[in-house]
Amino acid sequence: MEAHKQLTIGLFGFGVVGEGLYKILQQTPSLKASIKKVCIKNAAKKRNAPDTLFTTDKNEILNDPEINVVVEVINESESAFEIVSIALKNGKDVVSASKKMIAEHLPQLLQLQKETGKPFLYEASACASIPVIRNLEEYYDNDLLHSIKAIVNGSTNFILTKMFEDKLDFKEALLLAQQLGFAESDPKLDVEGYDAVNKWTELLLHAYGIISHPDELVFNGIQNIQLSDAVVAKEKHYEIKLVAQAKKLQSGKVAAFVLPQFIKQDDHLAFVKNEYNGVVIESGFADKQFFYGKGAGSFPTASAVLSDISALRYDYHYEYKKLYHHTPHQLDSSFHIKVYVSFDDWKYVPKEKFAWIEEWHAEAERKYLVGVLPFSELQQQNWWRENNTSLIVAPEPVIEDVEIRALKKKSLELAGVV
Ligand code: HSE
Repeated sequence: MEAHKQLTIGLFGFGVVGEGLYKILQQTPSLKASIKKVCIKNAAKKRNAPDTLFTTDKNEILNDPEINVVVEVINESESAFEIVSIALKNGKDVVSASKKMIAEHLPQLLQLQKETGKPFLYEASACASIPVIRNLEEYYDNDLLHSIKAIVNGSTNFILTKMFEDKLDFKEALLLAQQLGFAESDPKLDVEGYDAVNKWTELLLHAYGIISHPDELVFNGIQNIQLSDAVVAKEKHYEIKLVAQAKKLQSGKVAAFVLPQFIKQDDHLAFVKNEYNGVVIESGFADKQFFYGKGAGSFPTASAVLSDISALRYDYHYEYKKLYHHTPHQLDSSFHIKVYVSFDDWKYVPKEKFAWIEEWHAEAERKYLVGVLPFSELQQQNWWRENNTSLIVAPEPVIEDVEIRALKKKSLELAGVV
């Protein structure tokens, strides 16, 4: 696309993000981008824009040769995938914010971009206003990227902040997140960790060249967290956050999961409150870097869509450098993980599965332990999220199997066995 070309946009969706984009574009005439048509599902709904802008016929956008950019910000992931596929095949540049659709269709979307040569950008789909995808894509060499840990879901972070700092109950906090336009239409996607793992699937691709499906990753949301967990966290001077993590192991493979985690008060992520998101990257030589910004909401999300639209001016494409120009990394589950588990009854917790247990509190009505488990246990079994059991990952949770072997050997030596 030559510089300064007029961008004529066909927009799918006029919800929190779509309407936000419409308003932002009205305030940025210098961008030379205008919305020609907006495709919506429900024609009867009152909208804050002229009626002539709207259609319910997707082909009015997809088959209009004057429209050179399709922006897709709808809820239903299968319809979104269809729209994106047709738009790319019809020679249009595409911008999307649909994390679920993207995470569930990574191989097909990569193939479509190869076949059509058209840009498909989706910065808004992960961490909203934080430019994390372009950063991971452009800045870091994957050999130097040691780890990433991030808060990628605004609603759950908002709910945890409101519950533990403002003493709202869960339902009130969720309602507020919905009213403010942070939550998904089906809030279960936020609360039970689906939204976070979808975003993590995307970021693993741009960070490490890993093509995964959200179903392959170990994840949970905040639905099992109990008030008693917050009491323990406070005693230990921790906060509880829903954290997505990826860490390169000594084998060169990558450990990845999305789970509630105890965060130390001096950790950068402890600073991330309400609907904000935060990303801590550790890389060789640079050490730690921290990215912080609003992770949900109309204008913050639309601002990332706007930035993608603007990037189309200079024909920006994701090159998927870690996938195509490096040796892509692979996921690995041969490591151990340090966890806190609280539960109503010992019978729900298979103690024998732990490599060791460091703390053990059986006296109170709500019991808990802190111990080290093979990560594969979380992949293969479900006891840790059933029967009112709550599992929260410890700070610095990943323990490599070589370390476990060394520790075991040392304890045997100390015991005089070897
Ligand atoms: N429901 C999402 C969140 C919206 O709370 O993070 C932004 O992707």
